[in-house]
Amino acid sequence: MAEELMQNIQWFPGHMTKTRRMIAANLSLVDAVVEILDARIPRSSRNPEMDRMVGTKPRLLLLNKADMADPAATSRWIQAYRKENRVALAVDCRSGKGISGFAPAVRQQLLRELLEKRQAHGMSGAPIRLMVVGIPNVGKSSFINRMAQSKRAKVEDRPGVTRTKQWVKIGNQMELLDMPGVLWPKFEDQTVARRLAFTGAINDDIMDLEALAGLLLCYLAKAYPQVLEQRYKMTGLDEVAEDGYAMLELLGRKRGMLISGGEVNLERAAITLLDEFRSGKLGRITLELPEEA
Ligand code: G4P
Repeated sequence: MAEELMQNIQWFPGHMTKTRRMIAANLSLVDAVVEILDARIPRSSRNPEMDRMVGTKPRLLLLNKADMADPAATSRWIQAYRKENRVALAVDCRSGKGISGFAPAVRQQLLRELLEKRQAHGMSGAPIRLMVVGIPNVGKSSFINRMAQSKRAKVEDRPGVTRTKQWVKIGNQMELLDMPGVLWPKFEDQTVARRLAFTGAINDDIMDLEALAGLLLCYLAKAYPQVLEQRYKMTGLDEVAEDGYAMLELLGRKRGMLISGGEVNLERAAITLLDEFRSGKLGRITLELPEEA
């Protein structure tokens, strides 16, 4: 089974320490932190160290890429966060959907007390300063660009590409501080690692793509069987639903991905599945739910 064949995913981003230091050094300059999460994996895209790093600073959870996530699941996540008294908002920074709710959520929920205090002291004109954090590719630049309503050059989170501290002014009311994206150095929980890998948050070069695709198929067969039936015309899923390789083979066969001897090109099938999932062609899918914890 794919589960057993999948080697453990490890990832050593190297600049975790630097980012941690940068967050700590700049925390006193901001009023709150915006932690951007991937709405398809709100739990797995949260850096487990972030709570400790951010401490007691008010924090808003922004579930980005909501356009790719299952809307019913996203509502459940938002409700779960509300129950924990967290301020959370679902957005799609690519189209801008949901972004108009950001400033009101900050003003009326996240920083209400602070702003009332400022007003009482005649300081209501002071801009709100926010730090933006999140894993690489979660949409930090897209969010900041959306807020600034202009395109800025993207500085990538690649080792060797220097990122300096940047403040972006949003009108006269708000200033955003962009932090480098960072993944944690070690995955205690391989489920988290795999979910990050499904979404493309971890470099594919270090992974066994066939095993990864097999695991994604196992999840989809359980949670979204209609997607596999409709897109890949996969039938008889009940018999193979626990067997990732068997499903990958079925998918490849249905798509005519054969090599000499009539065997299925599993690598091609795996790449197709992962690409189509990541580009949203499979529809809106969420990989984890709040109740699962
Ligand atoms: P980062 O700063 O956190 O590293 O992430 P960035 O904004 O660069 O976004 C990473 C990728 O995710 C980009 O795609 C971006 O367009 C996409 N993205 C960001 N927000 C959303 C969203 O809400 N919905 C969807 N569907 N995609 C989003 P890319 O393929 O790397 O670049 P491009 O296609 O935009 O050129």
